Amino acid sequence: MSDKKILVSGVKPTGRPHIGNYFGAMKQFVDLQDTADESYVFVANYHGLISLQNKEEIARNTIDVVLDYLAIGLDPKKVVLYVQSDMPQVTELTWIFSTLVTVPFMERAHAYKDAVAKGNEATLGLFDYPVLMAADILLPGATIVPVGQDQKQHIEYARDIAQKFNNAFGETFTLPKESIIEGAAIVPGIDGQKMSKSYNNTIPLFATREEITKAVMSIVTDSSGEIPVNVYNLHKLFRPEAELKDLYEANKGSYKALKEALIEDLDAFIAPMRERRAILAQDEANIRAMLAENGAKMREKAEKLMEEVRERTGLKF
Ligand code: ADP
Ligand code: TRP
Repeated sequence: MSDKKILVSGVKPTGRPHIGNYFGAMKQFVDLQDTADESYVFVANYHGLISLQNKEEIARNTIDVVLDYLAIGLDPKKVVLYVQSDMPQVTELTWIFSTLVTVPFMERAHAYKDAVAKGNEATLGLFDYPVLMAADILLPGATIVPVGQDQKQHIEYARDIAQKFNNAFGETFTLPKESIIEGAAIVPGIDGQKMSKSYNNTIPLFATREEITKAVMSIVTDSSGEIPVNVYNLHKLFRPEAELKDLYEANKGSYKALKEALIEDLDAFIAPMRERRAILAQDEANIRAMLAENGAKMREKAEKLMEEVRERTGLKF
């Protein structure tokens, strides 16, 4: 085990990424790519299957997420971009980890608890979600995992699981830490709740001007307050609060003018990334070739650690 800074994170291919994904997690991948010793950023398609059972959509979204990664500025020379299912050893490791964790421990996981609270029947996949995530994190040897606040508990699970394995079979896995950005830990959606692909309240990261306008115009405003809180809370991602204070002071009560200002700021921010993405999208063959190469590299890397895991657990005889 070394002192290297090893970054690992992923996004599910379950819909278009939104500015919550960007400010909470994806921007961190870009900001950290120069200082990390190694970075591994993947498309969490095994996780995606839990909520999206549509083969065309999952497959299409998988390439789209990689385009998104490149368009926000991830440099494939600094970051290994790959698809989770190209490193199937994570599923083998998930099984081994599953034999170490108890059911009550897993029942405390938020995603599962929420599903049960809503009266949904959880699949075994949803129940096992944090264990698969632990395998994603521990197999490439992560020390740092940039995510939004909603994933914090999952990183704690990964740490606990690493510890359980190490206690049972000897020091094998490094204990990872989450990286969460204050001020972007829970980006609100246009309804004021947490922005999420599953809540229909997003501003897509690569939205067109029309989509930005439509989304911002439907931000829920509360006429009881001095400032439209939901507009302001999104706006502060794009402008220093000192500047915003003047703007909101000058336009007190004029929600329309403030929304128009937010549209301008959003569009100015998104436009260059949107353009870069359109250019990248013209060369999908190149992206597929990169993914094939990186998939092979990750399988080989995973196999090395899995050999040790099989040896330590007695699966290798
Ligand atoms: P979603 O929650 O929209 O389905 P994902 O689960 O694919 O998106 O999340 C990818 C990353 O984006 C995770 O690290 C997650 O914590 C982060 N994230 C998602 N929504 C938000 C949000 N509203 N604010 C901050 N970070 C978020
Ligand atoms: N569960 C994460 C999410 O919903 C996605 C994910 C899967 C992930 N495996 C990961 C994030 C490993 C960080 C590290 O956003």
